[in-house]
Amino acid sequence: MDALETIFTRYSCDTVRADPIPRELIEKLLSAAVQAPNHYKVRPWRFVVLQGQARERLGDLFAEIYLAEHPAAPPASVEKERAKPLRAPLLIAVGVEPVTDPRALPFENACAVAAAVENILLAAHALGLGAKWRTGTQATDPRVKAFLGLQPEQDLVSFIYIGYPANPAPTAQRPSFEDRTTWMD
Ligand SMILES: Cc1cc2nc3c(=O)[nH]c(=O)nc-3n(C[C@H](O)[C@H](O)[C@H](O)COP(=O)(O)O)c2cc1C
Repeated sequence: MDALETIFTRYSCDTVRADPIPRELIEKLLSAAVQAPNHYKVRPWRFVVLQGQARERLGDLFAEIYLAEHPAAPPASVEKERAKPLRAPLLIAVGVEPVTDPRALPFENACAVAAAVENILLAAHALGLGAKWRTGTQATDPRVKAFLGLQPEQDLVSFIYIGYPANPAPTAQRPSFEDRTTWMD
């Protein structure tokens, strides 16, 4: 698959199989991530790779947070929260590192991290994996950030859910660029 075909056929893969992803492929995804452009070469990304029981511990935290915020929630809703990180065999949480270079702007660093996330999505697709960028309310929760080793002020840009696609790829029909583009001569 060439670069343009990868870009044009990428899609958010909702449902993946439980089969584990080989370490070699995970490292390829992370290597793709760090090819992203980043101003002043500050490498502002932080990756946390979650597999196996780490996903269960994250799910327990999701359930605990949900229950604390919805004390009257039915058990089924709490269990739904607990099961969320189990939707894929591999999650890569991607955060923004604190600014260390005085020239770097937090916004620009966040942009660079988003570019790294897109690189992972594209690389996953090119490698025959299905991936989905997810955030949800959990991504801004300081307890979730602490679980991942992030400070409360660090942005958590994405939980990327990754696995082998369970279903055939959809044919995405995305809106055109026309109404979002101004041409200037
Ligand atoms: C910053 C960001 C956060 C997202 N968070 C979620 C999310 O929490 N849940 C979800 O279902 N999709 C999430 N998505 C995925 C979008 O819903 C998805 O990209 C969009 O529906 C377009 O579908 P496509 O990726 O197949 O083109 C997120 C995407 C971005 C860029």
